[in-house]
Order: sequence, then structure tokens, then C-alpha cells
Amino acid sequence: MQSINEVRQSLLSMIAKSDTPQDILKSNEIKELYAELANLESSARAAYGRAVNDLKQELKVAIQAREAELDDVAVEPLDVTAPWDVNTGPVSLLSTDQGTQHPLTKELDVVIDIFTRMGFEAIESRQIDDDFHMFTSLNFPEGHPARDGYDTFRTEEGFIPPAHTSTMQNRILKKGKTRLDKGGQIAAVSYGRVFRNEDVDATHDHTFYQYEGVFVSETATLGDMLGVLKAFFEAYYSQDLKIKTQPSYFPFVEPGLEFAIEKPVALGGKSGEWLEMLGCGMIHPNVLIAAGIDPEKYQGFAWGGGIERLVMLKYGIEDLRHFESGKLAFLRKFTS
Ligand code: PHE
Repeated sequence: MQSINEVRQSLLSMIAKSDTPQDILKSNEIKELYAELANLESSARAAYGRAVNDLKQELKVAIQAREAELDDVAVEPLDVTAPWDVNTGPVSLLSTDQGTQHPLTKELDVVIDIFTRMGFEAIESRQIDDDFHMFTSLNFPEGHPARDGYDTFRTEEGFIPPAHTSTMQNRILKKGKTRLDKGGQIAAVSYGRVFRNEDVDATHDHTFYQYEGVFVSETATLGDMLGVLKAFFEAYYSQDLKIKTQPSYFPFVEPGLEFAIEKPVALGGKSGEWLEMLGCGMIHPNVLIAAGIDPEKYQGFAWGGGIERLVMLKYGIEDLRHFESGKLAFLRKFTS
């Protein structure tokens, strides 16, 4: 039978090394110390009982100290922004042998190819942006009702997953300003994913893709814009097309237009069936001013439209939601 002091020594040193120090309170050594009470003269019991209780108290304090020490153990710093664990190296990706490009990716390549051959520089849009690029730089005054028309999502911090690729206009104009100063022109298309908080149906989704053009020079006209757009649609659908426009309102263009093409007979269209393809117009002077460009000297045009709409018409796809559905039966139609 060990003395109280021997038990103290051995349990304290166990606590100092244990990862679960609480367990030591339930150890046999302590049970045996209590069991010993029954063997003692009644005169000695009170003092012995107190000594065992004091020991238990002392152990509890030591246990708390050990637990605090365990909590403090230095944790390896972890970079949560790293693309993989820096210690284990890159993860191996699934083989892409069986994969194919998404139809939107393929068609976006076709769109960009047409515009870059016309001399436009292609720039991917951002998937997270701010109020200035979504609205203010585009001549939407603070509190203007037109802001509501864009059904924008917002993060708790006030950032905006863009509702249109027009968020890129101010960046394109600012960057292109030096080219204008040297007597050149600005010609860029931005493209990318946009988001709207609206009801989903066969022609609306919360996530879709847009392509957007910006052109600025000393002499740009609405006629130039219509020529560029007609040439683009005729190249994309590989046929001659009739076009028409009607007035529309976007705060960042003046005049603002909706641009429509006559649905080609080869694509199931009847004569006189018009399809609205995009919004466009002459860039509003305030948008040029927001980028430091003198609207007295320069003028430009811009357009923006949905990629899905282009692709749906080309392939006779009846429901916009197929694109984001991940349905293999749908995707396999575009594997060639
Ligand atoms: N950003 C507009 C939209 O998504 C389209 C647009 C772009 C209109 C450029 C005019 C000029 O509705």
C-alpha cells in the first residue's frame, strides 16, 4: 500500500505527461486510499480523510494547469487561402480523358474569336465586384430606381456578384485612355459570368454569361455600331441576317437601343419573327467622364447581351436551365 505522499508524487508526474489528465482522478491509487479509511482507528480517520481530500484538490489544480497547457500547444500555421496544403503538395486532379468542353465555353470561344478578328481585345469580367463598377461609374445615381432593375445579389460586406458585364466598362475606358491620348482608339470585349436574383424559368437563370463590347474613338457613330453587330451575328450564324432596333433605356447609354435580328428560316424562323439579342447604344458622356475621358472630344458605343440566348437559337435549345443543370444527356449533344 502506497503512502499518500507516494501517490501524490506518482499521480502528479502522470498528470504532467497525460493528454487526458481528467482520467487520473479515477485511478486505482485514489480508490485504494479511500478504501484504506475502513482499516483505520476511528480517531485517525478524520485526519486521514482530510489528507486524501486535500490530495484530490491538489490533483484537480494540477489537472487544470495541464489542460490549459494542452490548449496552448502551438498549432501549425495554416494558410487557408493556399490552393492546396503546402506540406502535402498539389492534389492530383481527376483525369480529363473522358471530359469535354461545356457548350457555353465552346461557343464563347467562337464569339471571342469573331470579335478579336475584328480587332477587339478580349477581357474576362470579374465574378465579384463593387457598387462603383456595378452602378455609380455607369451613371446610375445613388438611390435611382434603375438600380432595382438589376436584381443584384450583395454580400454581407457590400460586394456585388455583377449582374452584367458592364461592370468592366470603367476599367476598360480608364486603361484605354492612354491609347486615345496617343491618337488611337479603344476596342474591347469583356465576357464572363453574371448573377441576378430573379425567378428562374425557361428563359431566366440566376447565373448566366454575357459578352459586352466597348468602342471609343473621335469619330465613332451609331452606324458603326450597327455595322459591327450585324457583321458579328452574320458571322456567328453563318448567314445573312436582317436587323432592327428599337428605343430602350439604360442609364449608361444615350440613345439606348434594343437590337433584334430576324430569326433565320434555317433556324426555324418565320418571316417577320424578330428576336431581341442585346442592349446597346452610344456611351453616355457621364460614363466617359467617370473614366477621365473628355466627351467633347471622344465618343463611343457599347453593347451587352447573353451568351445563352445566342447558343439557344443556334442549336434550338428550348430551356436555358439546361446549361447549368449538369445533365449528361444534354452535354453529350455537344461533344464533337
Ligand atoms: N448591361 C445591359 C444589361 O445587361 C446591356 C447593355 C450593355 C446595354 C451595354 C447597353 C450597353 O441589361
